[in-house]
Amino acid sequence: MNDALSPPSSAPATPPAALAPLPGPLAARIIAVTSGKGGVGKTFVSANLAAALTRRGYRVLVLDADLGLANLDVVLNLHPKVTLHDVFTGKAQLDDAVIEAPGGFSVVLAGSGMVEYSRLTPAVRSEFLNVIQTLAPRFDVVLLDTGAGISDVVLFSVSLASEVLIVATPEPTSLTDAYAAIKVLATQQKRQQVRLVVNQAARPGDGRAITSQLQQVLDRFVTTDSGRPMRLVHMGDIPADMSVRDAVMRRQLLMLHMPGCPAALAIAQLASKVDTTLLAPKGA
Ligand SMILES: Nc1ncnc2c1ncn2[C@@H]1O[C@H](COP(=O)(O)OP(=O)(O)OP(=O)(O)O)[C@@H](O)[C@H]1O
Ligand SMILES: [Mg+2]
Repeated sequence: MNDALSPPSSAPATPPAALAPLPGPLAARIIAVTSGKGGVGKTFVSANLAAALTRRGYRVLVLDADLGLANLDVVLNLHPKVTLHDVFTGKAQLDDAVIEAPGGFSVVLAGSGMVEYSRLTPAVRSEFLNVIQTLAPRFDVVLLDTGAGISDVVLFSVSLASEVLIVATPEPTSLTDAYAAIKVLATQQKRQQVRLVVNQAARPGDGRAITSQLQQVLDRFVTTDSGRPMRLVHMGDIPADMSVRDAVMRRQLLMLHMPGCPAALAIAQLASKVDTTLLAPKGA
């Protein structure tokens, strides 16, 4: 077994419960894009997956759920007049914070440096819940671009989603952190399954191998409430691709400006898988 996938010697202390009641059936299509380690590609995946799902005909909202260190605006080159910060402080209406992104989907941006929102206070909790409950019914899919790790703010935003898409890279540190995050989602949020996308894959097939290694560790060490092991669903791989960095440097959306590059093609495949397994599953 890959050493990177051994359970961390100091298992993460379970933070205080961050679970909120899911907003009923509206939660059906809320997908949290999250990760154990930071900087692995959550924002890149969220923005480009949103563009790819929009192209498939869905009404998509991306919510910048990384309240403390938001950077969706940077990737999309947007300079919003109204952010969640203004909504939370009562300076603006939520509707004014919903803006159109290049790619045709909607976004709500958090505004960076919202230090006061990096802690999960009852106010942050209820504001955030209110935003999701108000906006979710207007869209077919809501992607929550969350922060990394297992802080209570991150876990709270993930708890609002019906599906969790973990982004991990093949790096050992990313995999051990992904394991730790998945373990917390099983124990604290009582989740039975999470989905995995392997970003910056070096070779085709990397993702499948990583998924099955991680699954083996989960089978041994993580039992869900039902008594069954946590199930990891491999959703796809995105290759390491210089075009991604180029697009970020130019503040352009990869799916729009370089739709034929390997990473963009992989995102299109991921969107197809999200569509067929989550949004419009056969027999549903
Ligand atoms: N498939 C890829 N190929 C090459 N570079 C990539 C790829 N995916 C992401 N990157 C690089 O990694 C950087 C970080 O990505 P991104 O901002 O999406 O990560 P993040 O997980 O949202 O980070 P944070 O945890 O800080 O929110 C990007 O700016 C890009 O340069
Ligand atoms: Mg990010």
